Amino acid sequence: MSDRFAENLLTWYRREKRDLPWRKTDDPYRIWVSEIMLQQTRVDTVIPYWHRFLAAFPTVHHLANADRQQVLKLWEGLGYYSRGRNLHDAARTVADKYDGRLPDTYEKISALKGIGPYSAAAILSIAFNKPYAVVDGNVIRVITRYFGIEEDIRSASVRNRVREHAEELIPNNEPGDFNQAVMELGATVCTPKNPQCSSCPVSAGCIANQTSRTDVIPYKSKA
Ligand code: ADE
Repeated sequence: MSDRFAENLLTWYRREKRDLPWRKTDDPYRIWVSEIMLQQTRVDTVIPYWHRFLAAFPTVHHLANADRQQVLKLWEGLGYYSRGRNLHDAARTVADKYDGRLPDTYEKISALKGIGPYSAAAILSIAFNKPYAVVDGNVIRVITRYFGIEEDIRSASVRNRVREHAEELIPNNEPGDFNQAVMELGATVCTPKNPQCSSCPVSAGCIANQTSRTDVIPYKSKA
């Protein structure tokens, strides 16, 4: 059932993917900046900020040598300023410790300020082709629906099950595209309300679709 999930999803992604600027680079630094900005901010909002930020700081060294006020000025309007401060601090670490090159292991990258499990998996898969699965709200929605997971997505055990499923599905050859494809599916087709199952490349194997339960999966309890 799930054996063709990745294949069907990737075929769809190649055809439908949005033309986003960070998808045209393989520079880990540029990908890193995009994933930090995208973590709490919508794609459309991020695009101009990403361009301005990288025009001002084209390399890790430029960012490391910049002063704090200049970095925060370019973050103005994006919100969550700790992201900008952490990115700046982490760039200084990467400049000092790794000669400006972002490390490519989970352990080393996670030790950098502002890089948690989501960003680590996103950067390692997209920039370094390593099969770490990302888990964000879009991924949780796609996977809980596909596997018919009805339990509360606030629970850590449900999130772990989602991660395990995603890790089983992620292909070794295109992990970055796979992660971006799941996020893209969640953002554009497998939406919280009125998902477009008739346009979904994996609807045939999706339990929520087959049982007409996309309106109750994912389930999230009140805080
Ligand atoms: N959200 C987080 N990372 C993303 C990416 N690389 N593409 C699209 N949406 C995203």
